[in-house]
Amino acid sequence: MRWTVVKTGAAETAGDLLVFPVFQKKNKADLRPITSLTGGHGPDLGPIIKSGGFKGAEGSLLPVYCGGIKAGWTLLVGLGKSEDVGLETIRKAAAHVAKQARKMDAAQVLVAVPATGAVVFDDESFARCWVEGAEMALSPIGAMKTGQSKAKSVPSAWKLLAAADRAVAMRRGVKEAEAFAAGCLFARELVNAPPNVLTPVALADRAKAMAKTEGLTCKILNVPQMKKMNMGGILGVGQGSRQEPRLISVHYKAPGAKGKKAPSVALVGKGITFDTGGISLKPGANMDHMKSDMGGSAAVLGAVLIAARLKLPVNIHVVVPAAENMPDGLAIKPADVLTMANGKTVEVLNTDAEGRLVLADGLWYAGREKPDHIIDAATLTGACVVALGTYFAGVMGNSAELIDTLRQAGGETHERVWPLPLVDEFKDEVKGTWSDLKNLGNGREAGAETAAAFLSAFVDEDTSWAHVDIAGPSFTTSSQPTCPKGGTGFGARLIARTLQILVS
Ligand code: BES
Ligand code: MN
Ligand code: ZN
Repeated sequence: MRWTVVKTGAAETAGDLLVFPVFQKKNKADLRPITSLTGGHGPDLGPIIKSGGFKGAEGSLLPVYCGGIKAGWTLLVGLGKSEDVGLETIRKAAAHVAKQARKMDAAQVLVAVPATGAVVFDDESFARCWVEGAEMALSPIGAMKTGQSKAKSVPSAWKLLAAADRAVAMRRGVKEAEAFAAGCLFARELVNAPPNVLTPVALADRAKAMAKTEGLTCKILNVPQMKKMNMGGILGVGQGSRQEPRLISVHYKAPGAKGKKAPSVALVGKGITFDTGGISLKPGANMDHMKSDMGGSAAVLGAVLIAARLKLPVNIHVVVPAAENMPDGLAIKPADVLTMANGKTVEVLNTDAEGRLVLADGLWYAGREKPDHIIDAATLTGACVVALGTYFAGVMGNSAELIDTLRQAGGETHERVWPLPLVDEFKDEVKGTWSDLKNLGNGREAGAETAAAFLSAFVDEDTSWAHVDIAGPSFTTSSQPTCPKGGTGFGARLIARTLQILVS
C-alpha cells in the first residue's frame, strides 16, 4: 500500500472512497471539525447526521453513495466518544476501514483526518496509528494457498487529507508507521510459516536475506562452530531433531560518526521452530500452535528491521538460538546433564522446558559484547499464559527502569506487558542437586518466574536485562481487527518503540 499526505487546500477528490472518521457525541455523531478538511469538495453529510442513523459508535461503519468525489462513495467510521479515544482506537478504525475498502474494491482511499482539538492524539500519532492499523489489518495469511491471485493489493493507494500546517508532522508519522508495520508483518510471516518449511536452517536463511535487504551484517553459527563454543543448551535441544540447530547473529550499527557512542542493546529471541516437548512429549491437542515457538525470534528480527529502516541511533545485536524440539532416539532425556557455553551445568528434568536451555547459550553469546541492555523475548511458559492471559506479556528482569520503559512502549504500541516478580527465592528453586542448575522450579507454581530465574544465571548481574514472556500474545486463534488468525508479530513494535525511548 502506498501512503501520501495531501494538503486539503488543493483537495484531491479523485478517489474511490472518501473516509470520515467521526466522534460520538451523546446520541448523534459529531462531524463539525471534520467536514472542513475536504476543502469543500466532500459530500454534505449533514442530513445523515441529523437523522441520527449514524451515531459514531466505536467500530461502526456506514458506506453511503452521495457523490462529491469521482467514485461517489463515502464511508463514515465511528471512533466513539472523544474522551475515550486512544491510539489503539485509531488503529482499529483504520483496520475496519481497510477491510471495508477491500470489500468495496476501492483502490484509492482518501481519509479526512479529524481536527484533533482537545482530543488525546496529535496529527503525527493519528497518521502513525492509521497507517499501522490499516497495514496490520490486511496482513496476508494465505501464502500457502494455491490458485489465489497474488495481485489482490486493494486498497493500493491511500491519501491522508491534512490541513496545510499539519502535513509535515503527518508525513513523519506515516514514515514511522510504514517501518513499524513492516517489522510486525515480517514477524507474523515468520510465525505463520509452517514448521516443515521454517526449520532452524530456513529461519537462519530468512534472517540472512532480511539482513541483506536492510543493510545489516549477519553471521550464522553451525553445529561444529557451536560445539567449539560448548553451547550445550542449543546443541542439546537440537540433537533430538534431524533438522540441525543454528545460532543467528545480526548486527545493526547506529549510523554516522556518533554511532560509536550510541547505546548498545542486545536482543535475544527464542527460536524453537517447533516444540513437540521432546521426550517429555506434549499432548496432541493444539500442538500445531507450537509452530509459533519461534515468536521471540520473529519479534527481535522484526524489531531490528524497524530500527534499521528508521536509522535509530542505537547499536543492536540480535541473537537467535534456533532449534527444533523433537523426540528422536538421540534426544536429550530427563536426568541428562548439559554443560552450557558459560560453563554452568544444567540437569534436564523436563525436555519440554527447552526454551530456557537454548536461551541460556543465546544470552551468554549476547553478553560477550558487553551491551548496555539485554532484552530477550520468548514464548517461554504456559504458566505465563495462565497468569496473564493473551492480552499481556509477562516482563521480568534486573532493571526496574528497563521494565518501566517496556511498559511505556507497550502502552503506546498496544503490546502490553505486565511485571512479574523475580526474587532470590525463585533463583534458589532452580539450583540443581547433581548440577549447578536444573531446568524446572519446584512444582507448577510460579512457572514464568522460575523460568526467568533460570535465565538470570546466564546474564551478567551488572547488565540491565529484561525478559519478556510472550507465550500468551504471540499467537491468536481468532481474528482481531488489526490481526488475522495466527502469528500476531507481538514484540516487534514493542521492542522497536522501547529502543526509540531508550535513545530519546
Ligand atoms: N513453548 C512452551 C511454552 C508455551 C506454552 C508457549 C503455551 C506458548 C503457549 C515451552 O517450551 C514449554 O513447553 N514450557 C513448559 C515448561 C514446563 C515444562 C516447566 C510449560 O509451560 O508447560
Ligand atoms: Mn517446551
Ligand atoms: Zn517451547
